[in-house]
Amino acid sequence: MGTRLLQYRFGGYSSCVELGSEALLERFRGERAVVVWDENTSSLLEPLHELPSVILPPGERTKSLDTVTQLLERFLEEGLERDATVIAVGGGVVCDAAALAASLYMRGVRLVLIPTTLLAMVDAALGGKTGVNFSAYKNLVGTFYPAEQIIVVPETLETLPQREYLSGLAEVIKSAMLGDPELFRILTKKVDEVLAREREVVEDLILRSVAVKGHIVEQDFTERGGREWLNLGHTFAHALESVTGFEGWTHGEAVAWGIVQALRCGEAAGITDPDYAATASELFRQYGFRCEIDTIAVDALIDAMQRDKKNRGGRVRYVLQRRPGETELRELSSELVRGVLSRNLS
Ligand SMILES: NC(=O)c1ccc[n+]([C@@H]2O[C@H](COP(=O)([O-])OP(=O)(O)OC[C@H]3O[C@@H](n4cnc5c(N)ncnc54)[C@H](O)[C@@H]3O)[C@@H](O)[C@H]2O)c1
Repeated sequence: MGTRLLQYRFGGYSSCVELGSEALLERFRGERAVVVWDENTSSLLEPLHELPSVILPPGERTKSLDTVTQLLERFLEEGLERDATVIAVGGGVVCDAAALAASLYMRGVRLVLIPTTLLAMVDAALGGKTGVNFSAYKNLVGTFYPAEQIIVVPETLETLPQREYLSGLAEVIKSAMLGDPELFRILTKKVDEVLAREREVVEDLILRSVAVKGHIVEQDFTERGGREWLNLGHTFAHALESVTGFEGWTHGEAVAWGIVQALRCGEAAGITDPDYAATASELFRQYGFRCEIDTIAVDALIDAMQRDKKNRGGRVRYVLQRRPGETELRELSSELVRGVLSRNLS
C-alpha cells in the first residue's frame, strides 16, 4: 500500500489522499472497475492497463454531457453495479467528467481519482466538485461527490508540458497565500528547484497545497461561507478567459493575472497591505507569469465579471486579502475595478 497521508471528511463523505503508486493494480483486482483516461494520459500507470477503459479526447471540450452519457453507457456495458469503482486518470477535465458520471451512475459508485496534472493534484481532484460545461458556461452542471481515494503519483508529472506545470503552480501560490506561510517561503526561496521540478520540492508543494484546500473545504463543503476563498483571483481570471475566448492563456496563467489584479484592487480599496501586494505580485513575476496585458477591452472584462455565476443579486463580490491568510469577500465598485485595470495595461 502507498503511504496514507491525509484524510478529510467532506459533508458525510471521507476522502483519503495518498502519495505513491505501490500495488496500484492489486488494490482493484477482483473488483468491477472502469478506468477513464484521456489520450495524453492513457500510456501512464501501466498496471492499470489491464482493466476495462475509456479513452477520451484531451481538452476542455471533453467536459460535456455527451461525455458523461458515453461514460454511463460504458459502465452499463461493463455490467458495473453499485459496488463498482470508477478510476479517473488525468487532469481536471478527466477527473471532473468521470466524477460526475460516477456520482450519477446508480446514484453513485466508488470513485478513485488519480490526478496527472499539477493543477488536478493540488486543486481539482480534492473537494468533491464534479462537473461539465453546459451551453456557454463552465462547470454549470455538476454535483458534490468527493472521491473516496485520491492517489497522487508524482512520476506522472514527468510527461506534463512545462506550461501545464506552471498552470498548476499558480494554484500552488494561491494556496500559499490563503493558508501556508511556509509554502510561500519555499516558493520564494526555491524558484529554480520548483521550476526544475525537483522531486522532493514538488512533493512538498503538492502536500502543502492539498492540506490548505482540504482544511478550507472541511470547514465549508457546500460553499456557504469560506470555500469561496479558493476563488481568489478567479473572478478576474474567468472574465479574462471568457473575453479572450479561452485562447492564449492557460487557466493558471489567467488565475495568476487575476490574483495580481485582486491584490491591486484590494490595495486601491484600502484593504490589502501594499507591501504584501508587492511581495505576492513579485512572486508571480518570478515564475514568469504575465501580470500586465497589452490590449484588452476593460469594459468587456467588467461585463464578464458582472455575469460571473458566483454573484448574488447582480452584485460582484471579489475575494480579497488583507495580508497572508486573511481573506475576505467584498463588493467593489466597477469604477474602482475599471480604474485599476485601465492603469495596468502594458
Ligand atoms: N473540481 C474542481 O474543484 C476543480 C478545481 C480546479 C479546476 N477544475 C477543472 O480542471 C480543469 C483543468 O484541469 P487541468 O489543468 O488539469 O487540464 P486538463 O485536464 O485539460 O489537462 C491539461 C492537458 O494536459 C494533458 N495531460 C494531463 N496529464 C498529463 C501528463 N501527466 N502528461 C502529459 N500530458 C498530460 C491533458 O491531456 C491536457 O491536454 C478545468 O476544466 C477546471 O474547470 C476543477
